[in-house]
Amino acid sequence: MPDPTPITESAVAEAADAAVAAIASSTTMAELRAARVTHVAEYSPLALFNAQLGSVPAADRAATGKLVGQARAAVSRASVAREGDLAVAEERTRLAAEAVDVTAVGTRWRPGARHPLTLLMERMSDIFVAMGWEIAEGPELENEWFNFDSLNMDEDHPARSEQDTFFVDPIDSHLVLRTQTSPVQIRSLLSRPLPVYVVSPGKVFRKDELDATHTPVFHQIEGIAIDRGLTMANLRGTLEHLARAMFGVEAQIRLRPNYFPFTEPSAEMDVWQPNAKGGARWVEWGGCGMVNPNVLRAAGIDPDDYQGFAFGMGIERTLQFRNDMNDMRDMVEGDIRFSQQFGMVV
Ligand code: FA5
Ligand code: MG
Repeated sequence: MPDPTPITESAVAEAADAAVAAIASSTTMAELRAARVTHVAEYSPLALFNAQLGSVPAADRAATGKLVGQARAAVSRASVAREGDLAVAEERTRLAAEAVDVTAVGTRWRPGARHPLTLLMERMSDIFVAMGWEIAEGPELENEWFNFDSLNMDEDHPARSEQDTFFVDPIDSHLVLRTQTSPVQIRSLLSRPLPVYVVSPGKVFRKDELDATHTPVFHQIEGIAIDRGLTMANLRGTLEHLARAMFGVEAQIRLRPNYFPFTEPSAEMDVWQPNAKGGARWVEWGGCGMVNPNVLRAAGIDPDDYQGFAFGMGIERTLQFRNDMNDMRDMVEGDIRFSQQFGMVV
């Protein structure tokens, strides 16, 4: 312990002033506590003066005690007042920090989106459901017989070649990734009583290069109608109805004679694309025709009794034409931002 400083009026005033100044300059509770340790607590100058009072000559003790006591009381008042101020300030800071802006824009939960091809398949199916047709589904991993033989595509048909078809190992499993939705024609005929009016949307696979108008995995919607007395006029009327529902009342389609083993006569169906890149033109949308009697026979139906038509359109092409999209590759990249542009309605 240092030698005690003599208790003089100026020494007490100096200690008290230093204490009050330190207390006044504290800006946080922690600083105030530190000022108290230095200026108020045990071993602080004022505490030491107080402890020395016992050794002050009796004649001076009362006056010196009063001097020290008043100084300590003044410092104590300053400390209590400062503590009150700091408490209010700290409370204010805390409330400001915890404040909630109830008008702030929240963090949005971004909903996903269904793929426009899925939406479009449902929409096209709905057009047929509204006319009383049924929806059927077939397997993507399909029996070779359903995909080819039953559709009158014999062993030598070019579409069966390794270039177009994904055959599944082992080769004698006779399974393929279906190259078209047409096998659902036969499946529908085998599983339903006549008459049959069925559409079947779904995924198909071909060894095609990915480019602006082709992808190796794409979608088709198949239609088959078998009843008494159906003709090409019924086929054409049905397709025109679908085209107008898809592309607007102004839509124009054209049937071009073509060949499919499972229809006779057969046609390729084009749709007029007024906004095609490079100028207005006809673009192929699908294939169609009157169901070949051999197909009816494969399903156990007498072609003299029942006839009908079938068609198969590309869904990617439909989306392209409907939305003036020039590149099909955007549809298959799996970027959610692509789907979100369509929302829930295509
Ligand atoms: C067929 O697949 C026949 N099954 C259609 C049919 C059904 C004819 C019923 C008669 C009766 P095609 O290979 O032309 O035909 O394909 C039909 C449509 O699928 C095409 O017009 C096109 O819109 C679409 N398409 C074909 N290949 C691709 C591909 N790689 N990528 C995207 N769309 C394709
Ligand atoms: Mg074609």
